Amino acid sequence: MLQLLTFLVEKLSLLSKFRIFESSWTEAEDEDLQRHAHRCPPPALRRGDLLEVPRTLFTHYGIYLGDNRVAHLIPDILPVFTSDQKLISSVITNKRLILGCMYRCATVRVDTLEDFAYGSSILVNRTDKMMKNQAFANEDVAKRAEKLIGGIQYSLLWNNCEHFVTYCRYGSAVSRQTEKFCECLKSIIRDQRSVIVTSLLGLISIISFGMAPATTLPTILIPFTLWMAG
Ligand SMILES: *[C@@H]1O[C@H](CO)[C@@H](O)[C@H](O)[C@H]1NC(C)=O
Repeated sequence: MLQLLTFLVEKLSLLSKFRIFESSWTEAEDEDLQRHAHRCPPPALRRGDLLEVPRTLFTHYGIYLGDNRVAHLIPDILPVFTSDQKLISSVITNKRLILGCMYRCATVRVDTLEDFAYGSSILVNRTDKMMKNQAFANEDVAKRAEKLIGGIQYSLLWNNCEHFVTYCRYGSAVSRQTEKFCECLKSIIRDQRSVIVTSLLGLISIISFGMAPATTLPTILIPFTLWMAG
């Protein structure tokens, strides 16, 4: 019994982590307004540097091209609805980003440093230490990035902004963000107890509340996650 209790507490703390994840969705709106508020001055940058900024749901990456311009791969829903280049080239808000992510539409585009940073301070070349491969010469990195500018199909897990920059700078497209996410997913799936507990909890809630959102939500979330992973 005690064992079961500690196990439940463990699982609840895991759930609360997900709740932090959810709350960042609602904060996305305020962030749009605040993004010009406080920003650290960017460090001295060189063409070909790998830039990194924390964004609402993940870390965003880009390649500096010089003259205050950054090439980055970013999901965007707008090109699906319009071909108005002026509209499309405006700053990508979180709503456009999230919808683009779900619709799997992304572009490699060039933005100003400010638009790329989206209100956060920029980290430079941080991945160099973590990668097996040596970085290319900065000029080559920038040229590789420039060759890829244009629309591509976006898959959250297999072709994201981190793959883009690692391909440009180190020659192999990898994403530690995705690897971490997959590891986390795998460990949850592998844990047989999760299956038992979630199905038990589901059963109990169906018995006591009927078809409440809590019971119907997983049936939507699971196929959705699989679809995003594809
Ligand atoms: C980033 O790395 C390159 C070498 O790969 C170096 O020339 C450049 O100065 C670095 N930039 C910063 C801001 O550290």
